[in-house]
Amino acid sequence: MKKVLFVDCCIRREASRSKELAEYFIQKLEETGAYEIERLCLMDENLSYFSDGFFLQREALLAEGKFDHPRFRYAHRFAAADKIVIAAPFWDLSFPALLKVYIENLCVDGITFHSDETGLHGLCKADHMVFLTARGGIYTDSPMEQGARYLEQMAAFFGIAKFDCVAAEGLDIGAWPVVELMEQAKEKAAEVAKAF
Ligand SMILES: Cc1cc2nc3c(=O)[nH]c(=O)nc-3n(C[C@H](O)[C@H](O)[C@H](O)COP(=O)(O)O)c2cc1C
Repeated sequence: MKKVLFVDCCIRREASRSKELAEYFIQKLEETGAYEIERLCLMDENLSYFSDGFFLQREALLAEGKFDHPRFRYAHRFAAADKIVIAAPFWDLSFPALLKVYIENLCVDGITFHSDETGLHGLCKADHMVFLTARGGIYTDSPMEQGARYLEQMAAFFGIAKFDCVAAEGLDIGAWPVVELMEQAKEKAAEVAKAF
């Protein structure tokens, strides 16, 4: 069975439409019987961003090659997964800061990527990252959208060749029934799940 790491950053939890979309996608994967889903709910983790001692501790551990320190557990788990699924809402043209803090903790030279004189090389095993998100407005073709764009580049940085974003959009505009917009996004999610 392929191991899927499902990173849940849907801050509004059960009220979140990003979560509803992601759970639909996960259900489609589960129906195939081909995947083992490992869930990581970021709201339940005590993640810290880098500052002062927490940053210095990282530098010291890396200098000593202590990659087995517990603070690197997120990076190890991410690097070992066969597939990555991330769910987060569209906030402030991107995604919630909590997801950025998680990514900050993932970027460990020697675990998720490697740098040498020839450049940067991804070390992650996964071959596909899927990002599921719900947006108040419509941004798919807008350069203002900086969440999916950033994650696509991070996937490449980690050595993950394929990236897909499934977005439910225009949910807060009020021009179309939310149920219909969600159905459209779910159809796309089902297609992506088939080709996962
Ligand atoms: C803090 C915050 C920031 C938001 N920023 C944007 C934004 O920049 N553009 C937009 O179209 N919608 C924005 N929205 C609306 C959300 O994208 C929309 O309501 C979405 O459905 C939220 O996803 P969720 O249901 O998974 O929580 C924002 C909502 C919140 C709470």
